[in-house]
Amino acid sequence: MTRRGLLRGTSACLAAAGSLGAALAADRPIPFGSAAEIETFRKDARYRDALKRYCDVIVPMNDLKWEALRHDRPRFDFSGADELVGFAEANKKALRGHTLLWGEALPPWAKEMATRAEAERELVNHIEIVVDRYKGRVGTWDVVNEVIKYDPTEGGPYRDTIWQRLLGPEHVDIAFRTAARVDPKARLVLNDFHFEEPVPGAAARRKVALDICRRLKDKGIPVHGIGMQAHLYADKGIDVDGLQRFMRDLDELGLDVEITELDVIDWKLPADPAQRDKTAAALVSTFLEAIVSAKRPKAIVTWGLTDRYSWVHETFPRKDSARARPLPLDADYRQKPMMAVLERYRRGLA
Ligand code: G3I
Repeated sequence: MTRRGLLRGTSACLAAAGSLGAALAADRPIPFGSAAEIETFRKDARYRDALKRYCDVIVPMNDLKWEALRHDRPRFDFSGADELVGFAEANKKALRGHTLLWGEALPPWAKEMATRAEAERELVNHIEIVVDRYKGRVGTWDVVNEVIKYDPTEGGPYRDTIWQRLLGPEHVDIAFRTAARVDPKARLVLNDFHFEEPVPGAAARRKVALDICRRLKDKGIPVHGIGMQAHLYADKGIDVDGLQRFMRDLDELGLDVEITELDVIDWKLPADPAQRDKTAAALVSTFLEAIVSAKRPKAIVTWGLTDRYSWVHETFPRKDSARARPLPLDADYRQKPMMAVLERYRRGLA
């Protein structure tokens, strides 16, 4: 489908959509992007073409994680990250860096750190080296990823990770403070998931995210926004009112919002692919309407582009073994209804 055809198609959907703010319509489109997985990137030319064609923003999916960069403790391996950063730069795409601190995707030696001093030394050294290498090139960093306990109504509020165990809540402060010191112009984001479902745990997570950012700001540590991963479950709802309140709370704190890992988990949906795609598009529409009508995201990023490759397929296998359909392009790179929804919201076509 041509771009014009796509937009004609999306316009036809608009009658069914809610209204978007007039201010949004007057602005430039919200930057759209995708995470890029290095092995797929290397082997599949259509994948590279899709990244070039659709994305304003590229996120190395795994290559900036500790597991990739720090496999050998003394030696950083930037090979995968450099390749994706180089591709983004050559094609004039912005870059998001994912992620400087996470309790997962760690090399074995990092899981065996034993003292506070060791953890702090490694964390600071890691962030200094990685942020410095991409200074002025990676515009936004997911400084910390998934630091909030899954359900803070049951304790926490921090997730039990090696960082929390050795450094306590200060692991977040150290990460943001160090990133800001090394690249004072970078946008620094707290990235997390499960903010959108209509359950008390998600409301508690929104509050914890705001509290952490408020605490950082009170200490004079820069934080610019919250990244909502938005791995949306097709079998669960969206807390529209809760999300809109969240956007207002972010405004009050002077924080941005970014959608950082959008996709749809369709494992419980009926088999029919067309029906699944329609349900997924409607869910993304409900989610984006809740966000965009209250606050303009700095970016909307999906966790991959094509159903051909997605973590959802392995992590949430369907009982009928059918391929998951979480993303805006199908396995043959054809646009799905979700792509039209994304276009509509990023362009403010209301
Ligand atoms: O590349 C190797 C391959 O050579 C090897 O044969 C294979 C055998 O296991 O592993 C491959 O690496 C895997 C990599 O994905 C590439 O597919 C890693 O084992 C696997 O751990 C890694 O999983 C990634 C996961 O994060 C952990 O880092 C997923 O791709 C990635 O989609 C997922 O992304 C996370 C976000 O970072 C945070 N939010 C949730 C999201 C989904 O889990």
